[in-house]
Amino acid sequence: MLILNKTAGVFSKPSRKKPYEFLRSFNFYPGKLFLHKLVLGIETSCDDTAAAVVDETGNVLGEAIHSQTEVHLKTGGIVPPVAQQLHRENIQRIVQEAVSASKVSPSELSAIATTIKPGLALSLGVGLSFSLQLVHQLKKPFIPIHHMEAHALTIRLLNKVEFPFLVLLISGGHCLLALVRGVSDFLLLGKSLDIAPGDMLDKVARRLSLIKHPECSTMSGGKAIEHLAKQGNKLHFDIKPPMQRAKNSKNCDFSFSGLQHVIDKIIMQKEKEEGIQKGQILSSAAHIAAAVQHTIACHIAKRTHRAILFCKQRHLLSQSNAVLVVSGGVASNLYIRKALEIVTNATQCTLLCPPPRLCTDNGIMIAWNGIERLRAGVGVLHNTEGIRYEPKCPLGVDISEEVGEAAIKVPRLKMEI
Ligand code: KG4
Ligand code: ZN
Repeated sequence: MLILNKTAGVFSKPSRKKPYEFLRSFNFYPGKLFLHKLVLGIETSCDDTAAAVVDETGNVLGEAIHSQTEVHLKTGGIVPPVAQQLHRENIQRIVQEAVSASKVSPSELSAIATTIKPGLALSLGVGLSFSLQLVHQLKKPFIPIHHMEAHALTIRLLNKVEFPFLVLLISGGHCLLALVRGVSDFLLLGKSLDIAPGDMLDKVARRLSLIKHPECSTMSGGKAIEHLAKQGNKLHFDIKPPMQRAKNSKNCDFSFSGLQHVIDKIIMQKEKEEGIQKGQILSSAAHIAAAVQHTIACHIAKRTHRAILFCKQRHLLSQSNAVLVVSGGVASNLYIRKALEIVTNATQCTLLCPPPRLCTDNGIMIAWNGIERLRAGVGVLHNTEGIRYEPKCPLGVDISEEVGEAAIKVPRLKMEI
């Protein structure tokens, strides 16, 4: 699927010229003066090729994105070389569209910010090499971006959120709870010990063959589960929440792979009962979707509840004005948001979520992270020698053991969602 920006169509076809040569074809707007800092953000860490130009006040001047979801749905998951090839085919056009829509001349940019970690090596490489060529051509500073830092800070483009705040990032590749104390100052409170919730939802959706379901065929796995769950009964199956064992029951870590195996077994059992083959849609698919969504919503809510209590107990968050920000692709799930709302209501916190299009990967969050770093004067490079992408990279200082040692008991909440 291609989401074109407003001025799409005014450009000639992407050429096979060197990546930066397209700059010569820009329309410039002499007479228009930009007084604010302007950052071009480029994102290619996974399966979206995205770019945006954002100014210091949070105005999005231009944006473009090419999503690979449809291709990867057909192959049953992301095949890294395929993702790399698609990034290569689209990056020049997407950056060109974002910059052209912004009506900013490339020479007016204050810096170029690009995701360099964490993510798929082959995908990160495309964004980084394209950006470095652009940086050298335009002689601009370069701001390397941590993908999860960008997700965490997106909210500050939209709302006046002061540091510190708590952030829950739930996506296809990541699952973490962190205290955000500054632009690049994070305390990691907990993370998934195995797979991320979006990955798990994608696997369940694939196992249920939801791509063949007429209502879900173009949706990501998580979105398909959310859609189908509305027609199901979450209590139809009795599923135990993850991480009930004493050893790791009192920390803020997450686990989703055990639940995925339980769901796999249920699906296998139901296929036998209904006498259908793997690949056909079960009559109980909606009940399974509702049960899995409810179970992960409760699991995420409970761990987040503990993180809020820990931060308040240690005076890391305000007692009365604490903010919980939830972002990442899975944060666009309204059922999970409602579960989290029950937690924030019970703990006198404010729950803030960026709108769905800013929860999933996009270029705006990368450009905004660049603005944040420019303003704070951190990580703005004038020399890019030795810069590398990093497929794996933890976020902030890991204090999850300390959180576990505190063994905070979480009061039971009625999860009537
Ligand atoms: O943040 P994102 O675009 O990419 C990264 O993983 O970084 O997140 C994509 C993930 C996918 O696993 C997708 O299934 C999930 O977000 N997702 C959802 C929903 N929309 C997307 N999960 C649950 N409910 C949704 N509505
Ligand atoms: Zn993401």
